[in-house]
Amino acid sequence: MISLSLNIQTLVVSVCVGLLVYYVIKRIRYRLPPGPWCIPIIGNYQIYSAPGLHRKVAELSKTYGPVVRLSAGPSAWVFLNNNEVVLEALVKRNTDFAGRTPFPSGEMFTDGGKDIALSTFTPTWRFHRKVAGKALRHYLQGDLLENMIQDNMTKFLDKMAKERGPFEFNNYANLIVFSQLYTICFGEKKSPDDPEVKSLLKLDEELVETWGVGVFMLFEDVFPYLKDIFPSKTWRKLTKITEDLFKVIRAKFYEHKATFQSGVNRDFTDSLLTARQEAENEGDEETLEKLDDTYLIQTIMDIFLAGTETTRFTLDWFINFMSGIPEFQSKCQEEIDRVVGSDRISMKHRNALDFTEACLFETWRRASLVALGIPHATMCDTKVGGYDIPKGTAVFINIWALHNDPKYWKDPEKFDPYRFLDQNGKLKATKPESWLPFSAGRRVCLGETLAKPDILLMCANLLQRFEIRLPPGVKPQLGGRVLSDGIDIPVDYKIVVKERQKEIKI
Ligand code: HEM
Repeated sequence: MISLSLNIQTLVVSVCVGLLVYYVIKRIRYRLPPGPWCIPIIGNYQIYSAPGLHRKVAELSKTYGPVVRLSAGPSAWVFLNNNEVVLEALVKRNTDFAGRTPFPSGEMFTDGGKDIALSTFTPTWRFHRKVAGKALRHYLQGDLLENMIQDNMTKFLDKMAKERGPFEFNNYANLIVFSQLYTICFGEKKSPDDPEVKSLLKLDEELVETWGVGVFMLFEDVFPYLKDIFPSKTWRKLTKITEDLFKVIRAKFYEHKATFQSGVNRDFTDSLLTARQEAENEGDEETLEKLDDTYLIQTIMDIFLAGTETTRFTLDWFINFMSGIPEFQSKCQEEIDRVVGSDRISMKHRNALDFTEACLFETWRRASLVALGIPHATMCDTKVGGYDIPKGTAVFINIWALHNDPKYWKDPEKFDPYRFLDQNGKLKATKPESWLPFSAGRRVCLGETLAKPDILLMCANLLQRFEIRLPPGVKPQLGGRVLSDGIDIPVDYKIVVKERQKEIKI
């Protein structure tokens, strides 16, 4: 008995001494970024475990400077909090910061990193990003995108027009966006009451609440061994949601595979199958290996989730601002009436909808949808802001901090589309500094070129058809609330709508 307790004591003392030596060596070898004091092993638990991490870290950067380090269990997480250090990392030292950390929840969701968004920077990742980018560009050709948006929106707006009292817009935003991504990925057009879309949406909502968007805050992500010995309720819930979501996406993929016809491109899934067939025709074994079913299903899941979550929150925030600030809504409507009239809104109008687009850009600044981006990881020992960042460190881009930096944005809390316009009311020729809703560098959002016109046309469609107001006597609430880590959503609100133009030409 005595010898056993001595052995345990020896073990504990050895581990502590080992950790201390490791810590001292690391401190001597590297000039690490500063951060708040923490409990050894547990780390800054009280900071990373509570919601609203983006705001808390931005606050810490007032004390510690733009590069802040937190300890999460045995790992260090580095947060970049201003434009200068973010551009230094993502643009100047782009490849150094292009990795992803293999967080256990991400590894579980992506079958060990076989997707695009969460897999690290390798030739295989680069290849899949290229294939998916080409498949998405397909929608920017001709009038494919605008036809799809019009078709989809009309069904939902007709339903919205029948609302007789105040209602929650976010239910519509979710269904509009889900149906559209469903059409992009699987070609089928869904009705507003389709049960499959509704059940997918429910799963996605549970996923966001359990996992957030891109930020990994499960206990098991900080202490990986817990998932094998004592998985938390949240971990088990995430595992179940993952299985259910993949069951649906896998079934759609196999349906496509069975009915695929060479030369016929029905949707995004067909574009991926076409890429595989091209490799088959060329007898390119190496490429074929990278295009197996698991990789393709993971790519579809990435596009589906990355596209829906960001777009539905954008629409919800946009309508929150437009109903809360009717002067800006009217200005958008004057512009839409002048440029489009009662025609169908199309891509050719895009360049003349400056004010409406400025409202959308300001929505992306104020809402900072993906507030902490998706965590990067360093591919080698590198530097940022004068500090050393060892290889394999998780690096978070605090987009929220950039979008609220008073050095670049006067009254950052205020919703002000004029920030994006020049004195002639045109969109400024260059993108404002410290505005990075889609991030930058090697990992810049893959959907940016699709999302910008897509969401603008959706917003313009809504304002062309409806006057949107808060119910009488209700005061606007534009501040938002934390949904889960890295995501703020509007405080619950209802709207009432009145049709402006019934006769939109088809
Ligand atoms: C409102 C619109 C959107 C916003 C604000 C947004 C923002 C972002 C951000 C901040 C990232 C992380 C970049 C980084 O790691 O530094 C990202 C990644 C990504 N986004 Fe988006 N996104 C939007 C829409 C979309 C859409 C519509 C799609 C697809 C159809 C998409 C697909 C992706 C993918 C695949 C990645 C991972 C890229 C990679 O890791 O290489 N996004 N997005």
